[in-house]
Amino acid sequence: MMQTYLELLNQAKAILQRNTITVTVDGKPYERTIPSKDYYVHEWLWDSAGIAMGLVHFNEEAAFNELLSLTAGQWNNGLMPHIIYNPGESRYYPPADQWQTTSFTRNGIKTSGITDPPLLAISAEYICNHASDEKKKRDFINNILPSIMAYHNYLKRYRDPEDCGLLTIVHPWESGTDDSPRWDSILKRIDLNTIPTNIKADVDLHRKDSRHHISQERPTEDDYYRYIYLIELFKDLAWDYTKIVQETPFAAKDILFNAIWERANEALAALLHTYGKQEEANNYQRWAEQTRKALTNTWSEEHNQYCDIDVTQGRHQAIAVPTNAMFMPLSAGAVTDKQLDILLHRLSLADEFDTEYPVPSTALNSQYFDKERYWRGPTWPITNLFIIDGLQRYKTRHKNVAQRANFLTIKTIQMIRDNGCWEYFDSTDHVTEGNTIGRGFSSFSWTAAILIQLIHMTE
Ligand code: GLC
Repeated sequence: MMQTYLELLNQAKAILQRNTITVTVDGKPYERTIPSKDYYVHEWLWDSAGIAMGLVHFNEEAAFNELLSLTAGQWNNGLMPHIIYNPGESRYYPPADQWQTTSFTRNGIKTSGITDPPLLAISAEYICNHASDEKKKRDFINNILPSIMAYHNYLKRYRDPEDCGLLTIVHPWESGTDDSPRWDSILKRIDLNTIPTNIKADVDLHRKDSRHHISQERPTEDDYYRYIYLIELFKDLAWDYTKIVQETPFAAKDILFNAIWERANEALAALLHTYGKQEEANNYQRWAEQTRKALTNTWSEEHNQYCDIDVTQGRHQAIAVPTNAMFMPLSAGAVTDKQLDILLHRLSLADEFDTEYPVPSTALNSQYFDKERYWRGPTWPITNLFIIDGLQRYKTRHKNVAQRANFLTIKTIQMIRDNGCWEYFDSTDHVTEGNTIGRGFSSFSWTAAILIQLIHMTE
């Protein structure tokens, strides 16, 4: 391994160690990694699942604990909330008490009421494939499998009641790509004038991320009014997910979320198979196959991409916005030969997705592209990781696929090496002396963990 990579690995480890905290939840001490000391001071579901995949390369115990710590926040109905709040912290908005969810968790643990991309099983499988202590691995699996199964059963039951293979998300935060232009058309239907003034006043007074940063890098105020409004609506529905899915003014079959859902069911089936539970394994394998087919069918010939589907209140309308989510079905193995050629071509176009630091969250030539703003233009390590993973799934089909996967791996490592472990990166700019293309918050755990994973891929 090159010396520079060793140094990079050490820097990444140091960030993860600095962002590790010990909390006592439900009378038990947990070690967990927060995304950033500056703002995201709680535990996030898909962040921690990603973080654990980095941790396992240098501290197996910490990787096990990271995932087990997430399960402490699981609801009685199986939902894994996207935030598990740490006690005594007030730096993040919305605060723990805004959600009013304690009656659904064990012993009053405070969590959000929505989920985010279901990376948990993928992470557990990755950890098992990379950890070496067989005894500890088995204990970990015995502990975590019931939680993962309960989570998947929750998702299937409440988010795919029609049994079509695609889950419904009910809040842009559930997509993990909060202000992606994929959600604009749905959100615009929520008329700002119908949002109570006390909600807007609360956002104006208490929102904190845009105070740390120039606001061009963060979601807009209007987005935030709608985000908080949705939470208030779900509270009014007493977090009854049968009703929420039917009545929410935001409901979508998200191709990114569902690609991860497919992959997660494959991972869960593989784990169950390894640990001798073949009947259960078959069930999740069937769900994976159903989702894979459904994802293939979201392809639009007209737009040459996979499309999310707006399913709000009985609608069924494709959303054709050119974002990096269109590449996620690669990771689910849902791509036909023809679709693969088109995706590969779009990844290589300089005015679309082959920017200075690919892969931008929105195509460069799209009317929605915004080079600074969050999920509307910048490059994010987590989505790059899944695009690389997806391309690798197809690498034997065509040598260009393997080349593109290698190119993206090296570019992503360089982007982080030359700028540091930022939350996201300007996808268009050159790095020059004294100028960083890093955006959002620095010393970001997720980015550090993904760097570790990518460097190990190059070995
Ligand atoms: C932002 C991102 C989301 C991430 C969270 C914590 O909300 O959009 O994907 O999980 O920050 O890092």
